[in-house]
Amino acid sequence: MKQINLGLGKETNAQAAVKCFPTYVKELPNGHERGRFLALDLGGTNFRVLLIELNDGNFKMESKIFAVPQSIMQGAGHELFDHIAECLSTFAHMQHIEHEVLPLGFTFSFPCSQHGLTEARLTQWTKGFSCSGVEGEDVVKLLEEAIERRGDVKIKVCAVLNDTTGTLMSCAWKNHNTYIGLIIGTGTNACYVERLENVGLWDGDWEEPKQVLINTEWGAFGGGGDLDSVLTEYDRDIDQHSINPGRQLFEKMISGMYLGEVARQLVQKLTKQGLLFGGQGSDALFERGGFFTKYITEVESDAPGDYTNCRMVLEELGIEHATDEDCENLRYVCEVVSRRAAFLVGTGLAVLLNKMDRPSVTVGVDGSVYRYHPHVHRLMCEQISRLVRPGMKFDLMLSEDGSGRGAALVAAVASRTAAT
Ligand code: BG6
Ligand code: GLC
Repeated sequence: MKQINLGLGKETNAQAAVKCFPTYVKELPNGHERGRFLALDLGGTNFRVLLIELNDGNFKMESKIFAVPQSIMQGAGHELFDHIAECLSTFAHMQHIEHEVLPLGFTFSFPCSQHGLTEARLTQWTKGFSCSGVEGEDVVKLLEEAIERRGDVKIKVCAVLNDTTGTLMSCAWKNHNTYIGLIIGTGTNACYVERLENVGLWDGDWEEPKQVLINTEWGAFGGGGDLDSVLTEYDRDIDQHSINPGRQLFEKMISGMYLGEVARQLVQKLTKQGLLFGGQGSDALFERGGFFTKYITEVESDAPGDYTNCRMVLEELGIEHATDEDCENLRYVCEVVSRRAAFLVGTGLAVLLNKMDRPSVTVGVDGSVYRYHPHVHRLMCEQISRLVRPGMKFDLMLSEDGSGRGAALVAAVASRTAAT
């Protein structure tokens, strides 16, 4: 709560780890949005290009996933944007819309400082990206320039948004009680609806509604030392070997890009101490990144006393001599890691719920960890219930169609607002 208040304050923002960026999205969807929109969705597991048609509560969506190779994720910025423009062009030709000028919503899921709906300066890369020449730049401009360089498609960028914003908007379209958007996927982050009077950083209009979505960028929590007392040796090791040491510490304890490695480090240590697998590991188990986050989900999806998934995971790791007791212990390690993540996210949500102080709030949620893990939802609910004010009601709603529809909705709401 303290970090969020620091982030929202004009004078205190510079010292805050949690930056609380105003998104310039003020209106939530009313269900009557219309139009055809292109959307780009960059920053989760998949890069997607989408064509979305909204028509009074109905919607149609065509989409295509494109790969973003690691060489591009960590290469030169102009190559990333050339790649995005190429995928957009391929998609537009497939859909036979290359001669139209379609409004576009750009879901760009990294921390950005905004001064309007169509301008977003990347403050720093997170997750696995580190393209040169992008930090400090307006990513809308970089996208437009790349599209112009090709010259074979025309677009009009109407909005740039974070995936949390897209998720909130997408869920709010169906459920008008949605005031928080949450991601627990490759990274973790949340956005929420804040009253303008609480946003010291606000430099936009004061017309109704006097509220704005705040992209908290809570993954950065801990950057100021707030998590030091709970960081383990495994967390510190993962942080030191990451491409952004000292940053995104909350994210590194919670999200899909890191959880598997937290578990692997524990299992490695227990194995080397002779407490697991008779002291015999495997190359994959002893290799950084060798234990995927999806293994945690798989191991914990076995019914109690059954080790079918667990043994499949061990086989993939090259461990074939595990006893039932080893399997039970591996499962325990996975539970410890995922429970901590769920409790941390639940705590963050309780902060936002207490801060908003509404009698009842729906949280729109997306991301592979939340979507596939068998117990994270329940554990989060338990933790939130422990920490919110008595009587406050909440529920967590899975976002079904990703943040693409949210991007179209932001673009639609923006054109509706511009028209009035
Ligand atoms: C997708 C959204 O469904 O979930 C993306 O469309 C978002 O915008 C992603 O970034 C987050 O989950 P993950 O697991 O793919 O990182
Ligand atoms: C990272 C990004 C943030 C995004 C989150 C989930 O924390 O910085 O912008 O919302 O991942 O994808």
